[in-house]
Amino acid sequence: MREIRVGLIGFGTVGSGVVKCLHNNGKLIGARSGVQPVIHKIADLDIVTDRGVPIDKSLLTTNVSDVLDNPDIDVVVELVGGTTIAKDFVLRALKNGKPVVTANKALLAYHGDEIFAAANESGADIYYEASVAGGIPIIKALREGLAANHIRAIYGILNGTCNYILTRMEREGLSFQPVLDDAQALGYAEAEPSLDIDGDDTAHKTTILASLAYGEWFGMKPLFIEGIRHLDLVDLRYAAEAGYKIKLLGIIKLAGNNGTIEMRVHPTLIPTGSMLANVSEVFNAVYVKGDVVGDTMFYGRGAGMDATASAVVADLVDVGLNLTFESPQRVSAFRPHGTYSDVVDMEDIDCRYYVRLEVLDEPRVLGRIADILGNGGISIASVTQEEAKPGTDSLPIILITHQAKERSIRRALTEISQLDVVRGTPVMLRIEDI
Ligand code: HSE
Repeated sequence: MREIRVGLIGFGTVGSGVVKCLHNNGKLIGARSGVQPVIHKIADLDIVTDRGVPIDKSLLTTNVSDVLDNPDIDVVVELVGGTTIAKDFVLRALKNGKPVVTANKALLAYHGDEIFAAANESGADIYYEASVAGGIPIIKALREGLAANHIRAIYGILNGTCNYILTRMEREGLSFQPVLDDAQALGYAEAEPSLDIDGDDTAHKTTILASLAYGEWFGMKPLFIEGIRHLDLVDLRYAAEAGYKIKLLGIIKLAGNNGTIEMRVHPTLIPTGSMLANVSEVFNAVYVKGDVVGDTMFYGRGAGMDATASAVVADLVDVGLNLTFESPQRVSAFRPHGTYSDVVDMEDIDCRYYVRLEVLDEPRVLGRIADILGNGGISIASVTQEEAKPGTDSLPIILITHQAKERSIRRALTEISQLDVVRGTPVMLRIEDI
């Protein structure tokens, strides 16, 4: 049995989870894999606070060099987070020839090209299973399990905070803000929640999955990102009446037959009966469509001490096996295959749309709106109109369109919003018939 000496940088929730997992399941992990990850050093600024996990205090250090420059350490686990010092630590570890395991999605999303280049140069492994969808082994699935496939599409519920908020809005008929307040009080949402609710965290994970699927390190630039902050409860209700639920999705898919892809993050109407629509609370799920395998779906906890530790420890086993069999980079962290490269501009995507308009209760209103949509080549699939409530002179109209270009719907809605019979700003949401 080969012992793998692990240096942890960052002794927060996930770091504590890794220590706990290795303590509780270490024997099983060793017996199953033939490698035995053992914590050798833990670097953190705070080495005083009790994390509630069994650890020999002599392993703790405030000096990161005790991990990064320590010849006894076989593998560095970066759990610091952020994109500044974490980047320095990862690059320094790789430069020292040490394999790295990281859970840091933002770091990869913004600096993946530099980090993978450094890994290639040094010949050391970099593994990052915990960076996307926590405990769900989706990175390994895309890199190895689905290696036989051209990936047709990936739809991911990749942020537990957003999924929790949307689930409660839908189930309890609550608006966004009170649910966010509650989620913060319960510790599900951060005190500064924008990374989650504005879609950036989902975007970081989406670009990692897209790169694995399509062999180009895309980074963040080509991504269209829209979060859930602006979602109005009435749209969840109208969507439900039309047979849809609203989920924040990371969407990656082939745009046509010419090898271009779509990559976007936004609240999306998906059929109520679909498996993804029934992923609730803080759970994550990734639906992958391959040309050989067909439809697959991966479900589990996307965050938290234990789920994330499960992914980190799985990576430690992979690194340990590669060290044991002297086969670092046996499975490349990221191998460009250049089959697909162009990401379609958001205005050029084809989609179905949900539109809500508040209009005056007067003759010819629907006709004028239909004319504008028709002139833009947009075909209406359904229209729902409620009667104006007593004492009000306006009413909502819900339109669902057939497939149309994003550019066309944006133009049409700009024109519609300028009509004297339209109140406020039209609401537009995208539909995916998964
Ligand atoms: N904050 C994320 C979530 C987990 O709510 O899913 C880390 O990416």
